[in-house]
Amino acid sequence: MILAGGFATRLRPLSCTRPKTLFPIVNKPLLQWIFERLARDGVNEAVLAVNQLTEFYIKQHRIPRSGITVRYSHDPPKRPLGTAGPVKHAERLLGHEPFLVLNGDIFADISYKELMDVHVKTGAWATLSLCEVEDPSRYGVAEITKSGRIKQFTEKPPKGTEPSNLINAGVYVLNPEVLQFIPEGRAVSMEREIFPKLATDRKLYGHIVHGLWMDIGKPEEYLQTNRILLDTISVKRKRKDTSRFESKNPVALDEGVSIGDESIIGPYAVLGKNVTIGKKAQITDSVVFPETRIGDSAWINGAIIGEGAVIGDNVRIGKGCIIADHAKIMKGISLNDGTAVCPAKEVS
Ligand code: GDD
Ligand code: MG
Repeated sequence: MILAGGFATRLRPLSCTRPKTLFPIVNKPLLQWIFERLARDGVNEAVLAVNQLTEFYIKQHRIPRSGITVRYSHDPPKRPLGTAGPVKHAERLLGHEPFLVLNGDIFADISYKELMDVHVKTGAWATLSLCEVEDPSRYGVAEITKSGRIKQFTEKPPKGTEPSNLINAGVYVLNPEVLQFIPEGRAVSMEREIFPKLATDRKLYGHIVHGLWMDIGKPEEYLQTNRILLDTISVKRKRKDTSRFESKNPVALDEGVSIGDESIIGPYAVLGKNVTIGKKAQITDSVVFPETRIGDSAWINGAIIGEGAVIGDNVRIGKGCIIADHAKIMKGISLNDGTAVCPAKEVS
């Protein structure tokens, strides 16, 4: 079960036109990374819990599914069901065996097989992957016993009151029995209503994981996820063209990217499919979505540029700027750090 019907408010305005699970991580939609990871562990069926809009965007993207059969389960129109409601809603599709639930906005290299094995061994009704983070207050926090049982689960505890640094990684196994605790027909939070109850009933277990784990919920986290992946995987393509630009690794250039002479790309630049860049431009520590055009002598550092945007000559875009899809920044404009530009907006 992949939860993919949230609103991604912290990634606006880029998320106005694309659910989080479709944000490209080094030029591949997050959902595609998720499918690939699931397929590697032998998963061959997935239910996507969506709303009307996320379903529309997901279908439009035609993501390769790595052989996984995908079914959609919808929250009712204009009535989001939260994180547990969609699981209850999809009850008929989930069968009679323990199943995995994934938050669709997490990049994680977690062995689902191992998690399932641990789950079966302890006899838990639910087993959460837990990872250790520095600031747990933004997450669901677990206090565990030596045997791995979760004594207490608190969603987003106030800073300073967290019982541990172990957080819900957003990847867990549920027994079908858990569904009886989820009320039907309203929004229900798995983390605030169901996990605490399972902890009280001594049915909630945790499994600490150490692999790469990233939540892409905030712009800075999204950029950081791309940076880490750029460092981790080698995505250098052999280029045929002979243009004389400078590439400072790590960078990732998708198909059809064209870059003008004397431009400097990188370090930490991700350029999507068919992105074109003029001469003497400089792009560092930024992600540029597909089909965007960037003019001569443009300077972009620490920003996210949406799909099909047009960035004029001599434009300056600094740290924390988010330019949504199809926005147009006219020649010579300099945007203050942290500026957000709405979809299709023209800044002149
Ligand atoms: N279908 C549907 N309907 N999906 C939803 C809804 C809804 O109403 N609300 C949220 N989701 C999906 C989101 O799209 C996301 O993939 C997942 O459920 C989790 O929701 P978030 O809104 O991203 O929650 P969070 O990031 O604040 O906290 C969750 O993730 C943390 C790890 O990143 C919790 O599970 C925390 O306990 C956890 O630590
Ligand atoms: Mg999240």
